[in-house]
Amino acid sequence: MDHNSFINSLTFKNVNESDIERAFQLEIEGFPPEEALTIERYRYIQSVAPTLFKGAYFSDSSSTSFSKLILIGTIMSTLADAPKITKESMFSHNPFGKIVFIHTVCVDKHYRGRGIALCMLKEYIKTLKNESQNKDVNGKYERVALICHEHLIPLYQKAGFTLMGESEIIWGNEKWFDLVLEL
Ligand SMILES: CC(C)(COP(=O)(O)OP(=O)(O)OC[C@H]1O[C@@H](n2cnc3c(N)ncnc32)[C@H](O)[C@@H]1OP(=O)(O)O)[C@@H](O)C(=O)NCCC(=O)NCCS
Repeated sequence: MDHNSFINSLTFKNVNESDIERAFQLEIEGFPPEEALTIERYRYIQSVAPTLFKGAYFSDSSSTSFSKLILIGTIMSTLADAPKITKESMFSHNPFGKIVFIHTVCVDKHYRGRGIALCMLKEYIKTLKNESQNKDVNGKYERVALICHEHLIPLYQKAGFTLMGESEIIWGNEKWFDLVLEL
């Protein structure tokens, strides 16, 4: 399958309760133990902000007569008030917050380097923009914020984020950088 057909074949949708363990499996495969979130955090975030927890699903029709959707990538966020990510916003969710704080972007290691993360980020941002422009929930979200390590700054810049500088967050052993995108 060529690149475009593969990306077009993916389904982006909310990650529901039954996929939390699979999503958590991607987290522990993707992050060193000192950075990985716990499964309790995953359960908490899915319960308080279910529409901000999105997954990329691949339709696997190889093994059975009917195709099965397999979760191969995730983006998970909560809402916050502070313009930049603080230690507090890493552990809380303000349902009235206008800043979408992305906690995790993760792609199954077997599917990396094929543009899935970039595609997920663009879809995610498009959905947030649409929701923010919806008349009924006007101004729902104002900004998307995240922190990442230096080598991943270009990924987020390609998705439209602006680098704000080094983050104050201490989490694990490596430096973090603040990136934001105005909606
Ligand atoms: C980081 C991660 C999400 C990238 O997923 P992916 O689907 O492989 O990324 P994409 O193929 O969409 O990459 C798009 C662009 O991002 C950049 N990029 C992606 N992964 C990168 C890496 N490991 N190092 C440097 N740049 C990277 C490249 O510029 C790439 O463009 P290119 O392929 O034209 O060079 C994936 O490697 C992962 O899940 N890692 C473990 C968890 C993690 O670190 N998440 C990020 C938390 S901030």
